[in-house]
Amino acid sequence: MSRSASKPVVLTGDRPTGPLHLGHYAGSLKARLELQRVTEQYLLIADAQALTDNAGDPAKVTSNVLEVALDYLAIGIDPRMTTIAIQSQIPELAELTAVLMNYVTVARLERNPTIKDEIRLRGFERDIPAGFLAYPVAQAADITAFRATLVPVGEDQLPMIEQTNELVRRFNAAVGEPVLLECIAQLSQVTRLPGIDGKAKMSKSLGNAIALGASSDEIRRAVRAMYTDERHLNVSDPGRVEGNVVFAFLDAFEPDVGRVAELRAHYRRGGLADSVVKAALEERLQSLLAPIRSERHRLQADRAAVLEILKQGTERARERAVSTMDAVKRALGLMYFE
Ligand code: TRP
Repeated sequence: MSRSASKPVVLTGDRPTGPLHLGHYAGSLKARLELQRVTEQYLLIADAQALTDNAGDPAKVTSNVLEVALDYLAIGIDPRMTTIAIQSQIPELAELTAVLMNYVTVARLERNPTIKDEIRLRGFERDIPAGFLAYPVAQAADITAFRATLVPVGEDQLPMIEQTNELVRRFNAAVGEPVLLECIAQLSQVTRLPGIDGKAKMSKSLGNAIALGASSDEIRRAVRAMYTDERHLNVSDPGRVEGNVVFAFLDAFEPDVGRVAELRAHYRRGGLADSVVKAALEERLQSLLAPIRSERHRLQADRAAVLEILKQGTERARERAVSTMDAVKRALGLMYFE
């Protein structure tokens, strides 16, 4: 075990609403493989948060908890280095959420840009579940309960970190001692991976994703269907690489940057067929995903072992949340029986 008090504590999480895909891999999973070596890393499977916009379909959430865990383990998240925990099984997170809820106004929640975007995206209009509006508070509880100081996030989650730190300052000011810790966001360097259809974001619900557990057939079909340059009709024509999904993927997944630069220049000049660039990408994705897929299958066959990893991780994470919650209650004076 390589846990030590001097390492920064990192928390990230995913909502279990489907298996994870290449967008997650490029945007955050890959970075977590590095982070687990140099930090004390916690990964939260945020099922309670997923329920805030899937309350009518709880099975969609609960049935994907194990899928997300399988994805983590299959890519090489090592439970000896990273603590994987299931959010709903740590009641102290809900308890801390209830406390923090008093340090934010409804007006402030409604101003959160991420929430505003998501409300629009999900078509909630005015019918926003209260839990959804307040999920930034729950996320602040996650971060502060684990005393995480480093939170790797995409740009869209920056307002969450800002709101977390606001809550921390308000709470600490109210109790007159620095009980909760502020955190800093670590922005991922990778720009968001587009969907195979060229839409700005890869997402399972948009049907434009390649799952980490995709079969080799699914990978082949997805690459063939990828949006390139609709005006690149003849091989000899110059082609556009901007907005060309195949090049966005090569940038994200082909480590040989020289080769990508060559392909890019050739494509621009003309004389390079889409099928050739796609073949290069397909080869790369097949070799990236083949070991992940086989490890996923191996783990899938041993469900009990995966559940045991989740159980132990959740217990360890809970101890940390309990000690934070004790300090919070003590600071508020909510201790009557000792
Ligand atoms: N909101 C995050 C997402 O949509 C998931 C998440 C839940 C999270 N709790 C967290 C991320 C705590 C970082 C820290 O992906």
